[in-house]
Amino acid sequence: MDYAETREEALARIAGTQDLGALETLRVEFLGKAGSISGLLKTLGSMSAEDRQTVGPQIHALRESVSDALTARKAALESAAMDAQLARETLDLSLPAPEAVRGTIHPVSQVMDELAEIFADLGFAVATGPEIEDDWHNFTALNIPESHPARAMHDTFYFPDAMATDAGKMLLRTHTSPVQIRAMIADGAPIRIIAPGRVYRSDSDATHTPMFHQVEGLVIDKGIHLGHLKWTLETFLKAFFEREDIVLRLRPSYFPFTEPSVEVDVGFALLNGKRVLGGSGDAPGHGWMELLGSGMVNRKVIAAGGLDPNEWQGFAFGVGVDRLAMLKYGMDDLRAFFDGDVRWLQHYGFSPLDVPTLSAGVGVRP
Ligand code: PHE
Repeated sequence: MDYAETREEALARIAGTQDLGALETLRVEFLGKAGSISGLLKTLGSMSAEDRQTVGPQIHALRESVSDALTARKAALESAAMDAQLARETLDLSLPAPEAVRGTIHPVSQVMDELAEIFADLGFAVATGPEIEDDWHNFTALNIPESHPARAMHDTFYFPDAMATDAGKMLLRTHTSPVQIRAMIADGAPIRIIAPGRVYRSDSDATHTPMFHQVEGLVIDKGIHLGHLKWTLETFLKAFFEREDIVLRLRPSYFPFTEPSVEVDVGFALLNGKRVLGGSGDAPGHGWMELLGSGMVNRKVIAAGGLDPNEWQGFAFGVGVDRLAMLKYGMDDLRAFFDGDVRWLQHYGFSPLDVPTLSAGVGVRP
């Protein structure tokens, strides 16, 4: 057999391939398990020793050169494919720049970031809890027992009885206060947290939506008193509204989970019929606006959180995040917050780069 001729023929066919698929077909035809050159190699076994000595090296040389030719052709085809791709994928730098991004940061998110920034500076961490709560965390542990009228006041969305657990019925949390309990149980004392998040009540008009946002504040430590609460709220509100003339009025109130409880009003002035926060509400042309609920954490709540109320005291407060946003940025209809209207979002939304910082201001407009 003329191996030189077989070799020339094979090399010519390899050189003639135009793509990697055809080349692979050829490789299988020559060197595959049932390939022609593999078949020649198999004949060596049945040859006489002399034949094998003369024919063996020729078959091996044939196999070698075909294999080398396949490898070289593969490299050539691959680099040609790469050149073609590079030529195809050019960037047209004369095209106009893409339109600016349309998305904005929702004022609720922005205000929550502002709150986190302000309270982080006071040593508070951000805590969270589930929006699907159980009756025990949302009510019982907060000293709102089964028959308490406050339960009716909360217009609670309950899940079906079949989903109830040992901790009572499941519900959509009506306030962020259950995070107080979760934080005490999870971390013990001392505690300094804020807990922003969604809350739900079956209520809907221009100033109420079934879902809205609150931020809870909780401090548990030794020797905590009302003075700490008042200073913290004053410091927070001055930083948030970026005015030194914020004046607070503390009124006695009632919440089952705080004792004593204080409702906090903030003084405003009327400017062109608009309420502008600042100054004493008792001054002529001024008034007081109810802003948030707070108080010293009830001993029963501290005990429900697994702490000894003779050792630990604290204060808590809860305030509407949407309401804070409306007061600071001037929206007047709460429902528009949740309409997803792109015109509203572009007007009231914030740039993603407008990260609130205490040094640059926590409320820079876009
Ligand atoms: N959880 C109360 C509410 O939703 C607010 C509050 C929180 C009051 C903490 C006192 C202390 O109205």
